[in-house]
Amino acid sequence: NKTPLTCLTAYSKTTAQVADKYCDIILVGDSLGMVLYGLKSTKKVKMKTMIEHCKVVKSYAKKSLVVFDMPYKTYTNKKSAYKNAKEVIKKTGCDAIKLEGGTKVAKIVKYLTSKNISVMGHIGLLPQSSTKYKLKGRKINENKKILDDAVAISKSGAFSIVVECVVESLAKKITNTVKIPTIGIGASKYCDGQILVLDDIIGLTDFSPKFVKKYSNVKKYILKSVKNYCQDVKKRRFPSSQNVYK
Ligand code: KIV
Repeated sequence: NKTPLTCLTAYSKTTAQVADKYCDIILVGDSLGMVLYGLKSTKKVKMKTMIEHCKVVKSYAKKSLVVFDMPYKTYTNKKSAYKNAKEVIKKTGCDAIKLEGGTKVAKIVKYLTSKNISVMGHIGLLPQSSTKYKLKGRKINENKKILDDAVAISKSGAFSIVVECVVESLAKKITNTVKIPTIGIGASKYCDGQILVLDDIIGLTDFSPKFVKKYSNVKKYILKSVKNYCQDVKKRRFPSSQNVYK
């Protein structure tokens, strides 16, 4: 019905419960490597870690579609992609998997969808293979390649594509060209839906590129609470009579 799709990441019980109230899609993204584990990139995120987080999210998300982000090097060929995707679905109960890449992974996506695995593509900026977080699609060659990637993924049977950090005109062109919904992150209002990292929009992380809108500053509230608690303990204001079992 052309209403934009709402998508956020979640990695835990509470974030899954909250996202599930409003979102169409919840992504258990490998961004958890940086957000929760302090890694420099998503490359070191392990399958085992992703599975544990996805199990929790899936068990608390009652209505949203839960998508599992396949970690780096877990889909290098058809066979390993199928084996790993099957394991993920069996262990977590997720509804779909996401993998990064365009024409290069199109055959793998086609193979997975032929085996009834729902696949979300991811084109534009690809965190698993980029060293820098940089806008894509400014150069003519790059622009054409990303459009080709989108078409290849769409033709492979994927049900949607994340389009990350591309210029607005390209996002618009991709959305008008492919038959499946485009989910933008730093890719303008012309996508069919939007996705962001939940921890970024609530101000729990310090990641603040232009495309992230901050809806609150949770880190500030945590800081204030921890400061007040520590002061209370030092000044013997906590525990008070209200916190004691007589
Ligand atoms: O890992 C992730 O969280 C992602 C999105 C933000 C699209 O891939």
